[in-house]
Amino acid sequence: MAIDVFISEEKIQERIKELAEVISKDYKGEEVIVVGVLNGCFMFCADLLRELDLPVITEFMAASSYGEGTTTSGQVDILLDIKSDIKGKNVLFVEDIVDTGHTFKKILEMIKTRGPKSVKIASLLSKPARREHEIDIDYLAFEIEDKFVVGYGLDLAGKYRELPYIGIYNS
Ligand code: IMP
Repeated sequence: MAIDVFISEEKIQERIKELAEVISKDYKGEEVIVVGVLNGCFMFCADLLRELDLPVITEFMAASSYGEGTTTSGQVDILLDIKSDIKGKNVLFVEDIVDTGHTFKKILEMIKTRGPKSVKIASLLSKPARREHEIDIDYLAFEIEDKFVVGYGLDLAGKYRELPYIGIYNS
């Protein structure tokens, strides 16, 4: 096993500052319910939140993901739901990576029935080559090719989430 640095800690932090500035401007001081999509979002969400200049309410959702492997089944289950009433509120989802789009298809279908004022997505990574459902990512840090990545929250069977950079996993 070897993990090569793909996106450095410095690059990630620089990009987060840029995104946070744009997000803060876009919401013009309005309150935002920031919903981190667990588990992979935890580092990105924590760093992004610290840079946002906005009144926020922080919530988390969890959706089932890859399990032990590196391929997806397409079956998505919501394992943890938010507690806030989002009717008439701005909702900003924070995700580690949009891959096939199955997870967001499911989450967006569910959330839109609750009457939010706005729904947006901030994602650390996107792999457009793998998309099976079109997902509109409002704030994207990095678009990447079809490679399995780990680190900075992203895992392989629970491992490597703690790395401060994004690495390419070579099995
Ligand atoms: P989607 O439903 O296919 O868009 O997948 C979203 C989820 O799959 C992400 O939140 C990750 O948990 C996981 N995932 C997709 N690609 C990778 C990867 O390259 N490394 C680690 N996890 C990934």
